[in-house]
Amino acid sequence: MPNQENIQRKWWKEKIVYQLYPRSYKDTNGDGIGDLKGVIEKLDYIKSLGVDVVWLNPIFESPNDDVGYDISDYKAIMKDFGSMEDFDLMLKGLHERGIKLIMDLVANHTSDEHPWFQESRKSRDNLYRNYYHWWDAEKGKPPYRWSIFDKENNAWKYDDKTNSYYFHIFSEKQPDLNWENPEVRHAIYSIMKFWLDKGIDGFRLDVIACISKDTSFPEMPENMHVSKWFPYYTQGPFLHDYLKEMNREVFSKYDCMNVGEMSFVTTEDALLFVDEERNELQTFYHFDHTGVGVSKENFMYADDTHWDLVEWKKIFNNWDKVFAAKGWGTIYLGNHDMSRMVSRFGNDREAFREISAKMLQTFILSMRATPYIYNGDEIGMVNTNHTKIENYQDVYTINYYNQLKQKGEDYEGFLQSHSNISRDNSRTPMQWNDKENAGFTNASPWLEVNKNYKTLNVAAQENDPDSVLNYFRELVQLRKNNLTLVYGAYELVDESNEQIFAYTRTLDHEQFLVVLNFSDTPALLRTTIPINKGNILISNYAEPSHNNIYDPYAAVIYKTSI
Ligand code: GLC
Ligand code: CA
Repeated sequence: MPNQENIQRKWWKEKIVYQLYPRSYKDTNGDGIGDLKGVIEKLDYIKSLGVDVVWLNPIFESPNDDVGYDISDYKAIMKDFGSMEDFDLMLKGLHERGIKLIMDLVANHTSDEHPWFQESRKSRDNLYRNYYHWWDAEKGKPPYRWSIFDKENNAWKYDDKTNSYYFHIFSEKQPDLNWENPEVRHAIYSIMKFWLDKGIDGFRLDVIACISKDTSFPEMPENMHVSKWFPYYTQGPFLHDYLKEMNREVFSKYDCMNVGEMSFVTTEDALLFVDEERNELQTFYHFDHTGVGVSKENFMYADDTHWDLVEWKKIFNNWDKVFAAKGWGTIYLGNHDMSRMVSRFGNDREAFREISAKMLQTFILSMRATPYIYNGDEIGMVNTNHTKIENYQDVYTINYYNQLKQKGEDYEGFLQSHSNISRDNSRTPMQWNDKENAGFTNASPWLEVNKNYKTLNVAAQENDPDSVLNYFRELVQLRKNNLTLVYGAYELVDESNEQIFAYTRTLDHEQFLVVLNFSDTPALLRTTIPINKGNILISNYAEPSHNNIYDPYAAVIYKTSI
């Protein structure tokens, strides 16, 4: 059992991370695109949230095929976002406010416009040839690999200049780097050091499980569904070696934080990545709980069948157990790759939008793991659910739509379904006020503002003591003032309850009970823990329960005694 003596305190376990999508945060020069000056303008707002780390989505030079996840210069700021001077000012402004900055490092692939790739494709004996994965065409067609963003879902792209194919898990403008080449690895480490030397506080490591793959590219097993393919070309044989090397060369030299985006990781192999003694990563985030609302058959489509809360609780429970004694976890319900958390896990109907937003925030900030909150979720922003392709910017959506159209398949039906889970739902501009374009820009925004901005915006919530925003601020303080909410043991209460997610958090003799009704009807909590109204620390209702029956989407944290 954790207690004050045996917990291993680390600053990165105690921080609350705010993920900031700069393209949609605040535009200051009237081009419809958020920029670093916009972040600077909002520094006091960020500070007012109480969060203490900002994770900034990629801001490096990029042709923006995949909005910044295709980098053409790792040491330059994307022109859309501003200059290095702006960056330095932003970093200084964050640090002056006691807020740390982690940047998004895309190490698995570059843009095809990166000078390394430009060189690599020139000739088979170019010095940079081996920076990427090439397959000479005289060997025949390479064994098929599924690509997630490709127009034809084919990860091999033929390049006639050298009569070879190159490999790209994502779009054809995102060729995969060859990590087996030590020059590549050291080039990436030196980029990391460049930014850490500038004073940043760490990295979010994009698709880090993909950096090692079986580069003999054998034929895939027959009759296997594509959704099962990725483990065959991610999580490769040298992944742990590379992470150990990255740790030795970079992380160990700085007091920094890191979080890897880790697909296909299981609870069984989790500690291999984050057990402190192995000197690899500090934390990663998995995807196990994000399947809600997404079809199992084809993850481009939504699934509106019943959501099984009992199963969902098991996922969190199993993951909490993994890190009970070693390593450390992360917790999130939204990011730039998912639809809005309120629409997916809460309820975006007007009657429940605010109350369910607060409930989900309570969940994120009361679990044992480093919490991540995605910008806009602090005010409870919701999906746009666009059903016209003109409203989309995401390469992922557009390429799939066009592919279906070309094949004569039901592309309109696809978009109807996909509109519930599309990534563009969460990338719409931040809603600051009820003025033109929600105060995001005075030009035409790069992605349409959600139409509900007139009533759902920061300014309106600033003035309302009961707003989602002010509730979030209160929760943040509650977590920061109570080590038990960070390190306390986690134990599920009323495990089989199909509507309520309840658990205790215990450290020494202090115990909190968290009760969250995830449904739109009243729900009974079955527990022997004595519950006393006088012990409510925070709740999204003035009176959340009557005789242990909790109102729809009620959230409460009680202090109970043991
Ligand atoms: C990660 C990013 C996503 C991006 C992909 C390719 O999953 O979060 O936005 O499209 O990697 O870099
Ligand atoms: Ca701008």
